[in-house]
Amino acid sequence: MKPSVAHPHFLQGGGKVGALMRAHDWSDSPLGPPEQWPQALRTVVGLLLQSQFPMFVAWGEELGFLYNDSYAEILGAKHPRALGRRFHDIWAEIWTDISPLIDAAMAGKSSYREDLPLVMNRKGYDEQTWFTFSYSPIRCDDGKVAGMFCAVSETTRRVLAERGQRELNETLERRVNAALAERKLLADIVEGTNAFVQVADLEYRWLAINRAAADEFERIFGIRPRVGDNMLELLASQPEHQAAVKAVWARALAGEEFVEIAEFGDPARDRRFYEMRYNALRDRAGQRIGAYQFVYDVTERLHDQERLRRAQEALRQSQKMESLGQLTGGVAHDFNNLLAVFANGLQLLERDVPAEQRERVYASMRRAVARGSGLTHQLLSFSRRRPINPEAIDLAACLDGMRALLTQSLRGDIQFRMELKDGLWPVEIDVGEFELAMLNLCVNARDSMATGGALTISAENVSEPGEQRLLDDFVRLSVQDSGCGMPPEILARVFEPFFTTKDVGKGSGLGLPQVYGFVQQSGGRLAVDSKVGEGTVLTLLLPRSLRQPVEASDESNAGVAPSDPPRRGHVLLVEDDPEVAALTREMLGELGFAVIHAASPAAALGALANARTVDVVLSDIMMPGGMSGLELAREIRRRQPGLPVVLTTGYSEATAGAGSAEFRLLLKPYSLDGLWKALSVQRN
Ligand SMILES: Nc1ncnc2c1ncn2[C@@H]1O[C@H](COP(=O)(O)OP(=O)(O)OP(=O)(O)O)[C@@H](O)[C@H]1O
Ligand SMILES: [Mg+2]
Repeated sequence: MKPSVAHPHFLQGGGKVGALMRAHDWSDSPLGPPEQWPQALRTVVGLLLQSQFPMFVAWGEELGFLYNDSYAEILGAKHPRALGRRFHDIWAEIWTDISPLIDAAMAGKSSYREDLPLVMNRKGYDEQTWFTFSYSPIRCDDGKVAGMFCAVSETTRRVLAERGQRELNETLERRVNAALAERKLLADIVEGTNAFVQVADLEYRWLAINRAAADEFERIFGIRPRVGDNMLELLASQPEHQAAVKAVWARALAGEEFVEIAEFGDPARDRRFYEMRYNALRDRAGQRIGAYQFVYDVTERLHDQERLRRAQEALRQSQKMESLGQLTGGVAHDFNNLLAVFANGLQLLERDVPAEQRERVYASMRRAVARGSGLTHQLLSFSRRRPINPEAIDLAACLDGMRALLTQSLRGDIQFRMELKDGLWPVEIDVGEFELAMLNLCVNARDSMATGGALTISAENVSEPGEQRLLDDFVRLSVQDSGCGMPPEILARVFEPFFTTKDVGKGSGLGLPQVYGFVQQSGGRLAVDSKVGEGTVLTLLLPRSLRQPVEASDESNAGVAPSDPPRRGHVLLVEDDPEVAALTREMLGELGFAVIHAASPAAALGALANARTVDVVLSDIMMPGGMSGLELAREIRRRQPGLPVVLTTGYSEATAGAGSAEFRLLLKPYSLDGLWKALSVQRN
């Protein structure tokens, strides 16, 4: 324990450090005991101990370090050990930074630094700090510099705060710049696009309108709109336009979002098509505050579509021509064969051949006629020129009646089955077309089963969700074979007219087109499903008829033409082709009719006017010169309402309409039976 001595005056007071200094053991300090310190040092120490501002003094050769309470805080953990020690020992970590200033002070030069950055270790770790301070030399009586004095203030907090602020400002600025750039970009795009952009508030006032839209508005209405203008007021002098604009914007302003394509402009000049999209405009809270409109001129696009459509049409046309080319290869070949049968047959018949051979020739000629008429029938129904007579039909009865015909067209190695559900609905179809379609399907199936197999015709009622009605009722009829099936590339073409994979003369490619045409005309649908090696199913959906099926009897019971008939009356035959007229006269004679021939409608009317006895008129529809067979028939009906008229035709679109409904129609070529039926039914 040191004896309590009276302390020097300058150590009186001086806060905690003052107390420490009074109690300090100075024996190992380079400064020695305070009682021996020179006056200059005493004065300075007295001064700094009394100050609230952080200060220190470094004194003597070894720069002994003394400081006040405020500076003790800067020292951190270095206090109180630092008291009386060498400057360098205390602040070794920042020595390189401050020693030039210390040297300058000891050489008599003051210095001042603001916010000098220093990395110091005063709390057990390295720490970035900033200090503002001044160093000044302290001279003794002899004028020599014996130490230095420092007033210092730590500015770390302020520097950090300023720096944070600066960074914040910089990022803010960057963000603002980015946002402005984005806005400008969007604005540039909106302004630069040739789409018309308009934004309006709920009062029809423009909140924005781009140049293109303003130009267009001015072009159409003659007034240039500006932001803030009211579009209804602007158009007040053009009530028609005002109403149109109001009608469409009212929907948009009511919140509807929609697209419309409309045509605008002077009809005489450049009339253009516009696609207009309307969307609701909402504020940040989601509240509707207006609407905006994007409009594109789609005239070119529509023109392109039109051009595409035309190109497709041209392509279809050329495909049709290609098909027609195939027709000459296939159908013409078939007809040549048929003609050959006739040519050869006639040559034979002209010679005196035995009765047996005669019979064979007749038989082959009859087959050729059947095949030829089948072919024209298919061609006509494919070209939709054949008049059709839809009737309500009981499918089960009809198919049952066809059983013999169908089995005949198959081969013995094919197992044929019909699976018809009970209570099939009636369907409204043309029976002739239907029979032909079933025959086509069965023959296709047969051809696909070169080595035998199974053919099943099945039918059932189905109801499907329909477009117009809630349910659509159909009878589903399928024809299924276990044949070779088809790969996709063939499947895709089977309904193309004249498409066939069969040899010339074996197939003309008109079978499935006929089926397709039939189903179309019946208001139904057709589907095909096929797998190579497994077989094929053709499915016909025929719409249900609400009418009662007709009995399929009277026609077939109309009877076969009598071979040696009694006289049955007089037929007025109107036919311009002498060849056909001669043949028909023969046939009519065979049936027991007396024939009056007229080569033109005028001649026919003349014959009737002469009061010749006529019981029935048989007239061709197509005839050269003024009046057609149909007009003739109408004229006859006007003059002699009771006189029956039968019209015949190879084909005629006209007959499918008015003619077939008004008059009995007999399709060429017709058989003796057909002719008999037509005339006798008509006369009854
Ligand atoms: N059931 C089937 N199985 C396999 N292939 C079929 C079947 N039905 C049709 N096809 C294919 O479709 C093609 C076209 O058939 P489509 O009935 O239209 O004409 P075709 O039978 O060739 O000639 P046509 O019927 O005029 O005598 C056939 O050539 C054949 O390749
Ligand atoms: Mg076929």
